[in-house]
Amino acid sequence: MQVATTIPSARQLVEQAREDGRRIGLVPTMGALHRGHVALVEECRRLADFTAVSIFVNPAQFGPGEDYDRYPRMLEEDLRKCEAAGVDLVFKPSAEEMYPRGVPKATFVEVPGLSHVLEGEIRPTHFRGVATVVLALFEIIRPDVAVFGQKDYQQQALIRRMVEDLHMPVEVVSHQTVRESDGLALSSRNAYLDAEQRRGSVALYKALEAACKAVAGGESDADRVRQILRSPIESEVGATLDYAEVVDAETLESLERIEPGRASVALLAARFGKTRLIDNARLTE
Ligand code: PAJ
Repeated sequence: MQVATTIPSARQLVEQAREDGRRIGLVPTMGALHRGHVALVEECRRLADFTAVSIFVNPAQFGPGEDYDRYPRMLEEDLRKCEAAGVDLVFKPSAEEMYPRGVPKATFVEVPGLSHVLEGEIRPTHFRGVATVVLALFEIIRPDVAVFGQKDYQQQALIRRMVEDLHMPVEVVSHQTVRESDGLALSSRNAYLDAEQRRGSVALYKALEAACKAVAGGESDADRVRQILRSPIESEVGATLDYAEVVDAETLESLERIEPGRASVALLAARFGKTRLIDNARLTE
């Protein structure tokens, strides 16, 4: 496994692999790697012959007062996990390498429609930061395939749209959410939860399970499903619901009815103390 900290060295290593005829895969991450990230790497290795992982806590996607400074950073452990997972290249740039002019002066991409709903309503500059850094990473690595987690449903929908709109030659693959045994979706932010919050956090999964069951049982009124989503979280002391939505799987437009022919997804965000957790589940395919 090789580690590159500069853009030219990453480019050179990937270029070499491409000249050798290898299909290039990329898994963008912010580090603090867990089994969810490793599952994406494994998927990427199935789809490509050269797997690059980027580790970059992207300042542009954190709003003022968010957890940029306290976001977990554990490079040594991350490198060990990458090596064990069979990663070929870790790209670990500094903030100066990625944003030589500083974030406020840097060019950015925005994906209208998908950037400002749901997560984007609460975190107005978040998705601009995500889209911009992913575009830059795609330009640096030029992957044939890139793997993202369904855990961040809105993020993968937005990246798909950006790739489509900008005609980028990369296949975007989404991998299912990896969970703890009680259903909590793995997240680097779970480390912030105290024992009581950790116990309460399973309400997200319970809410999604109940919604899926209702829809499988024939419930088609989206408002009733929203109510089913809300209730386990609202009855959890210590949890504050940010949103419980039922949306079109591609456009993320809010739905009135859930219909078999139209793919739909339930999306949740809740706060446990200062920690925000998100989760989602497909309701119809
Ligand atoms: P990060 O939160 O580190 O996540 C990196 C990738 O891992 C994302 O595609 C995310 O959806 C996926 N992931 C996280 N938890 C997962 C889980 N439990 N199961 C499956 N996949 C999971 O998302 C980001 O970083 C950043 O926004 C990034 C795309 C790297 C841009 O900065």
